[in-house]
Amino acid sequence: MLGTRNISKEDVVKWKSENKTGLLGSFQETAQFGELIVLAVGGLVAEDAINLAGKEHFSNKILIDATNPIAAVPPENGVLKFFTTLEESLMEKIQKQLPDAKVVKAFNCVGNAIMYKPNFNGSIPTMFICGNDEEAKKIVTTILTSFGWETEDMGKIEAARVIEPLAILWCIPGFIRNQWSHAFKLLKQ
Ligand SMILES: NC(=O)c1ccc[n+]([C@@H]2O[C@H](COP(=O)([O-])OP(=O)(O)OC[C@H]3O[C@@H](n4cnc5c(N)ncnc54)[C@H](OP(=O)(O)O)[C@@H]3O)[C@@H](O)[C@H]2O)c1
Repeated sequence: MLGTRNISKEDVVKWKSENKTGLLGSFQETAQFGELIVLAVGGLVAEDAINLAGKEHFSNKILIDATNPIAAVPPENGVLKFFTTLEESLMEKIQKQLPDAKVVKAFNCVGNAIMYKPNFNGSIPTMFICGNDEEAKKIVTTILTSFGWETEDMGKIEAARVIEPLAILWCIPGFIRNQWSHAFKLLKQ
């Protein structure tokens, strides 16, 4: 189910026509419906979107947090600006707003075009995740594996302070060379 403030919006109508069995609804209806919820709204409006959805609809549910705290200013030589600091990530702000949700950071530092079944000639890219609920991270790892990713669990929620800025790094080749189809890989001995 896809949540939106406007089910008549052009790209939403297109999504529905391409996904006949998919459901459409308000943020509130979608959060209520979801067993597992994905938050994919601009960082600056994340708090508003959660309030529209109704905080009570996130209780005890897994929330995959794909957001980035991108500030409303242009990048500088391809380097995005964040409105957060290295002392508190957007994920931590979201978890404070939703203390009963099992928030897991994932999908924030790769483009949407390659989130599902990325093709890197047999090489499996790495998704960095973090969060305070171990069971929730295991379930998200299962989803990531089925989507074609290997998962690196970076531990508790504070790790989002560094996972979120990876999105800044990921975007640089895009802004300066128009390259948007790469992903990170953690090499280990
Ligand atoms: N695009 C990517 O490839 C990508 C990759 C990784 C991570 N991310 C992160 O994922 C998030 C979404 O990215 P995006 O590219 O889809 O950005 P976007 O186009 O700005 O986000 C669209 C979503 O934000 C909602 N929204 C916009 N303004 C709102 C408001 N004032 N109040 C409540 N909801 C509002 C929209 O709802 P309506 O349908 O109601 O307009 C829609 O659901 C961002 O934090 C981004 O950093 C994006």
